[in-house]
Amino acid sequence: MKRALIALLLCMLCAMPGVQAQDGGEMYTIGIIGPMEEEIELIRSKMKVQKVEKLANFTFYSGTWDRQRVVLVRSGIGKVNSSVAAQILIALYRVDFLINSGVAGGLNPKLKVGDIVVSRDAVQHDVDQTAIGEPPGKFEDADVIYYEADPRLVRLGEAAAKGLPGVKVYVGRVASGDQFVGTDEQKQRIVKTFQADAVEMEGGAIGQVAYLNQVPYVIIRSISDASADAAGAEYKSFVKQAARNAAYLIEQMIQNLPKKK
Ligand code: ADE
Repeated sequence: MKRALIALLLCMLCAMPGVQAQDGGEMYTIGIIGPMEEEIELIRSKMKVQKVEKLANFTFYSGTWDRQRVVLVRSGIGKVNSSVAAQILIALYRVDFLINSGVAGGLNPKLKVGDIVVSRDAVQHDVDQTAIGEPPGKFEDADVIYYEADPRLVRLGEAAAKGLPGVKVYVGRVASGDQFVGTDEQKQRIVKTFQADAVEMEGGAIGQVAYLNQVPYVIIRSISDASADAAGAEYKSFVKQAARNAAYLIEQMIQNLPKKK
């Protein structure tokens, strides 16, 4: 009976953030959000998954990865889905920080398919109250247009590039909206208005949720399509490889993560 009680207490301790790692350092609890199966499968395969839970119809995988605690969620596509998933990771799983993993369309001509963008900041390119005098990307009641990523996570992402020979890593601006951006005209508008380097459908919303909760975040996206007018076809050919590149970079980041204290 006493043994069972001790085991239960130990289990409860393990379920809390900030548990002691075996080497005496404290472990982070890292929330990782990937919109699609392709964007989470490699990460899940490397984790030691201890618990699988369904909340708000998303599947959350909790466990460890390289001596850190990780909660991985497949959020589904788009800003609403990713916002709900991010808020659950913060409020219920009490993650220390958020990493958004996945693929993106290249806007900056420097970016080729397979390259990786580490977000310096992120914006929502479909936010538009310009008709009532607000700048593009800003709601009347918001105080931010560009959601800044955590500089320590950005540096960790940049440094992780060393572990991935042949893959170029750029720090840049990610623009997000509830649209697949497939035409040159759409791309030009986003570049002209926001000077963005890559476009996808979740990161800016995750940035906003992170900002509202004062939780550090970063977006790691590999380029799945970079062409001016054939983005859709290119995306279909390269999405898997690009998603893998982003996941490999995140693996390096987690391996290089300094101790919590
Ligand atoms: N994700 C990958 N490529 C994209 C694009 N071109 N537009 C929006 N999201 C994307």
